[in-house]
Amino acid sequence: MTEPLVSIQGLNVSYRGAGGTAHILDGVDITIGRGQSVGLVGESGSGKSTVAFAMLGLLADNAEVSARRAIFDGRATTFADKETTALRGTDIAMIFQDPMTALNPMFTIGTQLVDIQRRRFPRDNRRTLWARAEAVLADVGVQDAAQRMHRYPHEFSGGMRQRVVIAMALLVEPKLLIADEPTTALDATIEAQVVDVLHRLRQRTAASMLVVSHSMGLIAELCDSVVVMYAGTVVESGPVRDVLHRPRHPYTRALLACEIDPYAAFDPAQDLATIPGNVPDPARRPEGCIFASRCPASHQRCSKKPPHRQTGSGHAFSCWLEAA
Ligand SMILES: Nc1ncnc2c1ncn2[C@@H]1O[C@H](COP(=O)(O)OP(=O)(O)OP(=O)(O)O)[C@@H](O)[C@H]1O
Ligand SMILES: [Mg+2]
Repeated sequence: MTEPLVSIQGLNVSYRGAGGTAHILDGVDITIGRGQSVGLVGESGSGKSTVAFAMLGLLADNAEVSARRAIFDGRATTFADKETTALRGTDIAMIFQDPMTALNPMFTIGTQLVDIQRRRFPRDNRRTLWARAEAVLADVGVQDAAQRMHRYPHEFSGGMRQRVVIAMALLVEPKLLIADEPTTALDATIEAQVVDVLHRLRQRTAASMLVVSHSMGLIAELCDSVVVMYAGTVVESGPVRDVLHRPRHPYTRALLACEIDPYAAFDPAQDLATIPGNVPDPARRPEGCIFASRCPASHQRCSKKPPHRQTGSGHAFSCWLEAA
């Protein structure tokens, strides 16, 4: 078996603040095989973006990061060093939620799609880079790509801008493509189109992908495996099909029950399930199971750290349930 592109064990991230230190990530394990697509799912604030930013070496200045073991493309990394930062824009590319964060309103799309390639292809002249940009822009579904190259970001709709950003990410031919909530800023129809672009891209690119989302539906469509996070810990992980059809952790089950089918017509009469209670304060993490205070199956033993259980096919979860 070939070595995975990303292999991280025990990733911890804390943020220093006026009120003390908040432990945001607590021993996160994540593995991304070459050419594989991994989804990272969890409620708002569970630490998904923190994982993505740690990989990019882009954490805020008040962050402290450590990992028991962290390998990217065969080399050890601390995810906080200059080396990681140097990988940004060449080996790792990121698609953000809001496409405008990646685009400069002052320059045409063509100029930006050319400039992004300069580090990856320093020997190619502008004409070559322009032609490559135009081809990729057409490839992600921007019509009249040749004319559109001369336009500015504000002349594009939200969905079209996100396609431009996807083109930008593809042009650097990264080994890892991170998409952090790539469709949340878009309306449902445009979202479906962008998911379709990402889906086609998945089939054609050799890059590995990390798709960050609060939607299991999106992850089911784009990923081979999924990592479910709750309050900075991984509660369940495994092949998408296994986790979706046989969720083992009560949090994953609750998350799936809350999901609205994004492609079904919205029915306001539909009774949406929500998970009662709140995520624990990161500054005061409980000693036992992190989900215990909200878990419908909570038991006395949950005040102790739950065992990490592994079933066949790489499906793993941390819960006392089924452990007896
Ligand atoms: N620089 C920082 N200083 C202090 N706390 C921070 C900092 N950045 C993030 N946090 C906290 O870390 C936690 C996790 O944030 P993160 O953005 O990783 O969550 P997320 O899962 O991506 O959420 P969302 O779905 O809303 O994007 C949150 O409680 C957030 O308030
Ligand atoms: Mg986020």
